[in-house]
Amino acid sequence: MTPIVIAIDGTSASGKSTNAKLISKALGFTYVDTGAMFRTLAWFCLKEQIDIHNPKTVTNACRKWKTTLDCVDGHVRLLVAGYYPSKEIRTAETSAAVPYIAAIPKVREWMKDIQRSCTRFGNLVMEGRDIGSAIFPETNYKYYLDANLAERERRRQAEGVHEDLAQRDHRDSQRATAPLMIPLGAIVINNSGLSAEETSIQIIAHIKKTLPQNSQ
Ligand code: DC
Repeated sequence: MTPIVIAIDGTSASGKSTNAKLISKALGFTYVDTGAMFRTLAWFCLKEQIDIHNPKTVTNACRKWKTTLDCVDGHVRLLVAGYYPSKEIRTAETSAAVPYIAAIPKVREWMKDIQRSCTRFGNLVMEGRDIGSAIFPETNYKYYLDANLAERERRRQAEGVHEDLAQRDHRDSQRATAPLMIPLGAIVINNSGLSAEETSIQIIAHIKKTLPQNSQ
């Protein structure tokens, strides 16, 4: 049977990760954080002193870096030369660099192949910016999360992260290749006044209404 893919897209700090994790746990599906994959490439470029503003050198690095995918506790991880950079990819420096590398068409082609290959781990809950629009446009399960800017900034500050969310969203939605957008057919949820649990309950209920019986 073809694996089912639940696509969770949305703006920065709109609750994609928390919700995608809650949904994957509730359904027993594998969780994939595609933002972590882009962050891993940005981290790798910074570490190797590759110019993130030069699409050619970044594309070259992306062709040559030695990566593997594995799945631990239901979460897919991208490893570089056998190493999983979990903390390093969350620094302010990496966050600031990632929109530049994410705008490079060849990088997005590479990411698309690796992200589609994740179905080898079974049914997926995949979060990102272009999952329902570009990576798995064929899925029937598309959700787009958003919240007002003040609320999203409050959430990031509570995590101890200070960054310009409006600027990152602007870069992500203005790029020419696979920009952040509401995918065709997506259910849009503004969760400004909702907790992650309340949001995920809505999504899980909606998914369960439409999932084939034998996958529940
Ligand atoms: O979700 P996140 O904040 O970890 O994403 C990091 C960056 O990667 C964000 O600026 C947008 C980009 N990204 C993307 O372009 N496409 C995706 N599918 C996921 C993330």
